[in-house]
Amino acid sequence: MRIGFGYDVHRLVPGRRCVLCGVEIPSELGLLGHSDADAAAHALIDALLGAAALGDIGRLYPDTDEAYKDVDSMVLLRDTVARVRAAGYEIGNADITIVAQAPRIAPYVEDMRRCLAENMGVDVSRVSVKGKTEEGLGFTGTKQGIAVHAAALIQES
Ligand code: CDP
Ligand code: ZN
Repeated sequence: MRIGFGYDVHRLVPGRRCVLCGVEIPSELGLLGHSDADAAAHALIDALLGAAALGDIGRLYPDTDEAYKDVDSMVLLRDTVARVRAAGYEIGNADITIVAQAPRIAPYVEDMRRCLAENMGVDVSRVSVKGKTEEGLGFTGTKQGIAVHAAALIQES
């Protein structure tokens, strides 16, 4: 078994969609980025790549590449999972913590788990998504951005 950890941050700005774990959430502010800015998907991708020691999201899917402009991060997740499997591993489980003062993600957690599980080709029981505030402190507390932590376990197949 091998473990990986991933972390990502995107700014919250007006006039952008808020997509987390492949699910669009109604929100006054959205996530800024070259891709769809799905910070949760990005943290998960880095956790999976880290577990397999296959690099990181910025190296594999550079934001300087026009191919990845506004890309659906689920496309990147599927590619990452294919790389992890090609390297000889199967996915054990993944656990994601979304740190955000707003929006509230609890109503969308089940949709998020289903969406990630489908795109990873695993049972939904292997995927966990949680929301957390930082009690009004720091950049997440002041709604300047959203931070996401992810852990993933893979095992030799
Ligand atoms: O109570 P505690 O300080 O541990 O947690 P909190 O950050 O105040 O969040 C309370 C609950 O709100 C969490 O358990 C999540 O279920 C939910 N939550 C959410 O749905 N969306 C967020 N962006 C943050 C928290
Ligand atoms: Zn990102």
